[in-house]
Amino acid sequence: MYKICLLPGDGIGPEVIASTKDVLTALSIEWDFVECGIGFGEYQRSGSPLPDATIHEIRHADAALFGAVTTPPNIPNYFSPVVRMRQALDLYANLRPTRSIPHSSSRPGIDLLIVRENTEGLYSGIERMEDNGSRAITERVITRTGSERIIRKAFDLAWQTGRRTVHVVHKANVLRQTCGLFRSVALEISKEYPDLTMNEMLVDTCAMELVRAPEQFEVIVTTNLFGDILSDEACMFVGGLGVAASGNIGMDAAVFEPVHGSAPTLVGTGKANPVATFLAAAMMLDYLNEIESAERLRCAVNDCIANGESTPDLGGSFTTSQVTERVIGCL
Ligand code: NAI
Ligand code: MG
Repeated sequence: MYKICLLPGDGIGPEVIASTKDVLTALSIEWDFVECGIGFGEYQRSGSPLPDATIHEIRHADAALFGAVTTPPNIPNYFSPVVRMRQALDLYANLRPTRSIPHSSSRPGIDLLIVRENTEGLYSGIERMEDNGSRAITERVITRTGSERIIRKAFDLAWQTGRRTVHVVHKANVLRQTCGLFRSVALEISKEYPDLTMNEMLVDTCAMELVRAPEQFEVIVTTNLFGDILSDEACMFVGGLGVAASGNIGMDAAVFEPVHGSAPTLVGTGKANPVATFLAAAMMLDYLNEIESAERLRCAVNDCIANGESTPDLGGSFTTSQVTERVIGCL
């Protein structure tokens, strides 16, 4: 029995999480689901977009599944619950698998995992204004410990998933200190994995190579901002936001989520594609070491996509709940 914390959030979040709960329930695994508040709706109810009780539940669950939240404009003291959650739980590894789907909009032959550092780099939150607001400074923090754990995570995942090469992506020719440290840690750690090949690539070259020949990559590991951009770039080759999933992994907590936001215009229309959240659930199953169920779920999703049983974003005419029923049928 796994305890799973469900974080529906705002907009289409509750719709895709409800569908995913039904899909997980259809697997022959026992679940204990607890639902917790997050986002703008939660702020309106309780005064906080991320109550302490939610953090507590995520920490004490085996894993969490998060829908999406809406960012309200201009509310003083409002904070991003997504960023806060990653910090509070030290979810240092952001995993973004990018796999071809059986659909005409997807390029074939891609099976790439982007491993993004999720807590430091240019998103460390150290910013200031100087000279009466005429100079803005953001500090980019890269630590040895932070680099070691994310690079080790990437090599471990490469090894566990039978991949051979890890691309370490940086800009050490210009950012000599920060990217220099990241790169030298990578060179050290790669020696612990003699069966894997480490390739280095500058981030601008990588952005170009991803467009030219995405199938050349197996695992990319990189710092926070670079990973943010490259992973969004990569998901457009394989079906886009309706099918893109991610995981945020820490030492004692893990949160899985679709990449998309709360898509307010889709609420209640039945047009929200639940597949991104199904694939996030498949990543969660991998994390729980329920490898066979994860594969079954991915196969069921691919069968439905291949049959054209999909929402309008993939050219189909199925609703959110019809796709959910079909995936459960395939399972
Ligand atoms: P969005 O991801 O919600 O929507 C972008 C486009 O993709 C829209 O055209 C939307 O209709 C479509 N789309 C998104 N999810 C879809 C799905 N499951 N099926 C079919 N089509 C889908 O991003 P947007 O519009 O920039 O932001 C909307 C709200 O979401 C904002 O308040 C934003 O701050 C928030 N947001 C939250 C995120 C999160 O919770 N992790 C991530 C990104 C945005
Ligand atoms: Mg992003």
